Amino acid sequence: MRTKIIAGNWKMNKVAAEAIAFARDLKVKTLNIRKTEIIVCPPFTALAIVHDILKDSRAEVGAQNVHFAASGAYTGEISAEMIESAGCRHVIIGHSERRQYFGETNQLVNQKLIHVLTTSLTPIVCIGETLEQRQSGQTENVIRTQLEESLTGLTTDQLKRVVLAYEPVWAIGTGVTATPEQAEEVHKFIRELIRSRFGQKSSDLIQILYGGSVKPDNIRDLLSRTDIDGGLIGGASLNVASFVEMIKITEDLIN
Ligand code: PGA
Repeated sequence: MRTKIIAGNWKMNKVAAEAIAFARDLKVKTLNIRKTEIIVCPPFTALAIVHDILKDSRAEVGAQNVHFAASGAYTGEISAEMIESAGCRHVIIGHSERRQYFGETNQLVNQKLIHVLTTSLTPIVCIGETLEQRQSGQTENVIRTQLEESLTGLTTDQLKRVVLAYEPVWAIGTGVTATPEQAEEVHKFIRELIRSRFGQKSSDLIQILYGGSVKPDNIRDLLSRTDIDGGLIGGASLNVASFVEMIKITEDLIN
């Protein structure tokens, strides 16, 4: 019922030549993929060229961040309209690195989300607790607040266009993955929060990705869980061979 998504978040990696080589290789290596949704999120400087290479392939392109306004005097920023015009279909909002290093709050995430929903882009909204919050038993509270505040003002129809990503901060780039049980527990909780606010149908339909040290070795176990609909993958998405391996494992799980 829900399709599975494999999204690669390149973060601040790959100059144009590297991005081009990756995209060409990915296109050839995913010719037989039929069901898995593939998304790559290069840095802004490579969005258009990567889209140009992948336009006839299964893979779609997404951006890693976006501004909340359509245009204006915001030096250095990029709007959803610009991302759209580079051929993107998706945009990540509220990644924990944006929250941690650039002070993004749930309110800002909400502002960005509301604007993105006026365009054709699919937002991938990230939430997740820190190690400290988990250890002090705050995970559910943190997730509830992040979700409520990030989704403020959204209608049920708007929610249909949103993808969520649960990314425990302690698992991002650390090599420490949440166990499939830990991840599934939070995914279930998120789905329940969505059900109580938007209803059963929305909760059944919304795709919730897991992110945090996903790699070929652990992706099968994570994505086999009922409420985990895909991966938002950083480090292991930078290498085509490992990214394609994860796509194939996912394709295999669906069949
Ligand atoms: P990681 O990053 O796979 O390198 O842990 C995931 C992410 O930050 O989206």
